[in-house]
Amino acid sequence: MTASDQPPMMPLRVTRNDKIADGIHLLEFRDPGGKTLPEFSAGAHITIRVPNGALRKYSLCNDPAERDRYAVAIKREVNGRGGSIKLIDSVKAGDELMVAPPINDFELPQRATDFLFIAGGIGVTPFMAMIREAHAAKKRFRLYYCSRSPETTAFIDELSAPEFKDSVTIHYDQGDPARSLDFKLILAERKNREHLYCCGPRPLMEAVRNMTGHWSSAAVHFEAFSDAETHKATDKAFKVKLAQSGDVIDVLVTKTILEAMREHGLEVPSSCETGTCGTCRTKLLAGEADHRDLCLAEHERGDNIMICVSRAKSDKITIDR
Ligand code: FES
Repeated sequence: MTASDQPPMMPLRVTRNDKIADGIHLLEFRDPGGKTLPEFSAGAHITIRVPNGALRKYSLCNDPAERDRYAVAIKREVNGRGGSIKLIDSVKAGDELMVAPPINDFELPQRATDFLFIAGGIGVTPFMAMIREAHAAKKRFRLYYCSRSPETTAFIDELSAPEFKDSVTIHYDQGDPARSLDFKLILAERKNREHLYCCGPRPLMEAVRNMTGHWSSAAVHFEAFSDAETHKATDKAFKVKLAQSGDVIDVLVTKTILEAMREHGLEVPSSCETGTCGTCRTKLLAGEADHRDLCLAEHERGDNIMICVSRAKSDKITIDR
């Protein structure tokens, strides 16, 4: 969606801001007048206006059947852009924040009956809603949840509940890559036409994507954090020719193609802006792309580009916009 057709934000009251693991807080929002909130499905996120003015997206982790509250789990990102620290440290129960209604870029297909969920750290949040939705619909799931240690792991109690515990594997690596969960066996075959959903740090998602080349691309879904770091120290500026107008715009080191186009006055549809939902897919007509998305299949990369995250290897690329 473009900035102009975003649903209007609504004032919601913060009713909880509680630590649930080391560096992780659960924030709960309700309507100040006690009204029912717009409904959501598992995988949806809300956008919160942080007191410093920034907008941040967080996956809803409560049961989608609940209509009176939204709950999000937020990791205090000391190396982030400051939004999570502001929310955790300075927002308290009773405060009101502006919140955009839920949007779902990570939805479970209605007809699917089996799911494989892979979470890394705080990436577990959408799965907390998904396992509740799947359980209510009598669907099957396996959840593999990779975390550093029990102290840094949110939702251990909920995941130990009788209805979930046999479907959940929590793997602790103590922050040592050598102790990472080996996904090769888990991903070796697609059982019961499972749909795979993965959310976590980028290296985890890239590893999973690289091990699922033999899965149908329609059955593999990723969601990145909204402050996912897709810039690299080696990034360089480049030019983008917009084939429809013939205009050539500069994409600076610190900008994305999408941002540069918007600054050029163009309305460009987007949603996740992390290279996972597919909304900003654009035909690549010339030049070589530096693909950083998690949604294009290998055979689509020669002539498509996700302009919210991907860059150029050549000095100039031409896109069909
Ligand atoms: S906006 Fe979602 S992939 Fe670009």
